[in-house]
Amino acid sequence: MKKIKVAPSIIAADQANLASEVKKVERAGADLLHIDIMDGHFVPNITIGPSVVQALDKVTDLPLDVHLMIASPQKYIKAFSQAGADYITIHIESCKGNAQKLIAQIKAQGKKAGISLNPATPLAAIKNLLERVDLVLVMSVNPGFSGQKFMLSVLPKIRALRRAFKGAISVDGGINQDTAGYVISCGVDILAAGSFVFDAKNPRKAIESLKKCPKK
Ligand code: DX5
Ligand code: ZN
Repeated sequence: MKKIKVAPSIIAADQANLASEVKKVERAGADLLHIDIMDGHFVPNITIGPSVVQALDKVTDLPLDVHLMIASPQKYIKAFSQAGADYITIHIESCKGNAQKLIAQIKAQGKKAGISLNPATPLAAIKNLLERVDLVLVMSVNPGFSGQKFMLSVLPKIRALRRAFKGAISVDGGINQDTAGYVISCGVDILAAGSFVFDAKNPRKAIESLKKCPKK
């Protein structure tokens, strides 16, 4: 059985205590730290920039999984690379036909490249990129906010992606004990989970329950 990785999404952490929140999930068995970057243009919410990512890099050994939900990713790839990102994931919907170039830009910085797609975006939109990316991040909610309901409608897309793609598949949005089993049975590798992990009384148990979630 393959090992499922969990990437707690710090959008759901106590923002006034990020360092201790990150330490908390690191000790609790997190594999990566998922960092949501929102600009108020590509999505209707605003989060953090490279300086906070750089500060987080100093307090954790976890690989930083930076999810760019921003309108002009080409302008910020370098800044987030220098801030210490290990993975940089861009959205196909924000690439304006330049996805290949942006993926090359991420790789030129020595980083792992990810491509993400919104629930309504078909797999066909990224088919030609699968050879070039390390990670595909499938959104199972419309990006913007933590705490939304998982959309079961994305499951066929994940199954088709698994057949076509050998790299890492991550799913993001509404992941909890009840929904993880669906995506694990579709063959995903990484679960990005915000509120389920950070709101848990016992984050170790929460992370463990995702990793061990029976297939549905
Ligand atoms: C959605 C973000 C996710 C999300 C995770 O726009 O990319 O990372 O907030 O939070 P939960 O797990 O609470 O849905
Ligand atoms: Zn995310």
